[in-house]
Amino acid sequence: MNKKFFVTTPIYYVNDIPHIGHTVTTVTADIIARYHKVLGEKVFFLTGTDEHGAKVAEAAAEQGLPPQEFTDKVSKTFAEIWPKLNINYDYFIRTTNPKHEKIVQEVLTKIYKKGDIYKAKYTGLYCIGCEKFITESELIKGKCPLHPTKEVVAQKEENYFFRLSKYVPTLIKAIENENHPFHYRISPQSKKTEVLSRLKAGVSDLSISRAEVTWGIPIPWDKSQTIYVWVDALFNYYTATKITGKEDFWPADLHLIAKDIIWFHTVIWEALLIAADLLLPKEIFVHNFYLIDGQKMSKSLGNVIAPQELIQNYGVDGTRYLIASTFPATSDSDVSWQKFTEKYNADLANGLGNLISRVAKLCESKNYHFKGNLPASISQELEIGGYHTHMEKIELNLALEEIWRNIANINLQISIERPWEKTDEETKIILSEAVRGILDIAFALQPFMPETAERISAQFKGPRIAAEKPLFPRI
Ligand code: MSP
Repeated sequence: MNKKFFVTTPIYYVNDIPHIGHTVTTVTADIIARYHKVLGEKVFFLTGTDEHGAKVAEAAAEQGLPPQEFTDKVSKTFAEIWPKLNINYDYFIRTTNPKHEKIVQEVLTKIYKKGDIYKAKYTGLYCIGCEKFITESELIKGKCPLHPTKEVVAQKEENYFFRLSKYVPTLIKAIENENHPFHYRISPQSKKTEVLSRLKAGVSDLSISRAEVTWGIPIPWDKSQTIYVWVDALFNYYTATKITGKEDFWPADLHLIAKDIIWFHTVIWEALLIAADLLLPKEIFVHNFYLIDGQKMSKSLGNVIAPQELIQNYGVDGTRYLIASTFPATSDSDVSWQKFTEKYNADLANGLGNLISRVAKLCESKNYHFKGNLPASISQELEIGGYHTHMEKIELNLALEEIWRNIANINLQISIERPWEKTDEETKIILSEAVRGILDIAFALQPFMPETAERISAQFKGPRIAAEKPLFPRI
């Protein structure tokens, strides 16, 4: 039996169209999914869109469209852009799918019957941008720091509350103790520390319904309220397995998210799952943000980078490489068109591209073809240093650095050994080593640049090695 691996991205709000921020998480999920497939595992890769709530309703109204029509339109742009980047998700979930809505209602009813949901009055400030309540102390100049152009709104409602506080001691133990029955990993370590200290500082119960928001799933036992959009959204990971008949993939092995939604994914989600008697995810990996020229990306600043433009400039694999190599693993990553182009030229046109054409030309001129003559271990037992360790830890940028060190080494080796000055026998040895190294590189590149990896192995494993047109033309 093959090991199963279930990986997810956040489901994106349809008030916005796909940009590089959504792209980095989704490309990462695809790379990790492909990596686990290479390892021989059975993979389920889920992405989708988050379509309810005040923010989406507002965006629909701005465009003068009924919410459903609006979400149908925007959701499609997400579903359609990913395949253009060779992102092979297995299922695209939408929270307006009636099957999802029904399952969320069932689970919530279960938690309600258990006594973990109660009704209470609530007064607080709400940030529609975040779709969450925000405290006075979190405000900067009276505004939410993440949405400085939006007003926070005072809310006074009678809502249903989830007993989140009740689960805090269990969550702390579950995070800290690897042998705890509910154990889940929060990585990297710095993010785990951050969550634990917030948990230990004290947590209040969570409002999980809204009387004023009509664009949402009705509370099954009280149709005058809708389910809080975040509760509805988090359950997508579970409902998707039911909708697709892939229940055996539950629980998720890996939720990929960025730091903006860490609390929902590492605290609220797990508490809800425990309350619903469902199994908890194994790992939540939290990455940081892309900044564009040192600034937050925003429509008003006009610095948003769209995946379509990236593909136009750098091609599919070029884009995938640039995203993975600038992956904001542990700190924010500052990107720009200029930096991307420089990196494309240095690493792809020069580094990888040059190595391939150089070695192919040398083989061609000597009529050397190594099919079947290479040391046996190629491709299977990868000799690239910490590659697997970095892949396991989702340090995509570091995994690529390992590969690029090999590219540089092979290039250097050829320059030092100067095969063009050697005897035929010596040249053959030097080039067979280089070809072997290249095939290892192609193997390691499969999850990152599937088409390029395929082209390289076809070129060097084929019956005749010959120079081909450059993989990455200089820009
Ligand atoms: N709908 C919620 C998620 C619900 S999941 C059950 C949401 N949607 S979102 O459209 O705002 O997407 C947030 C996610 O997009 C981040 O967690 C991250 O994965 C990605 N990014 C958005 N902007 C980003 C950057 N500038 N940089 C890196 N990733 C960011 O929150």
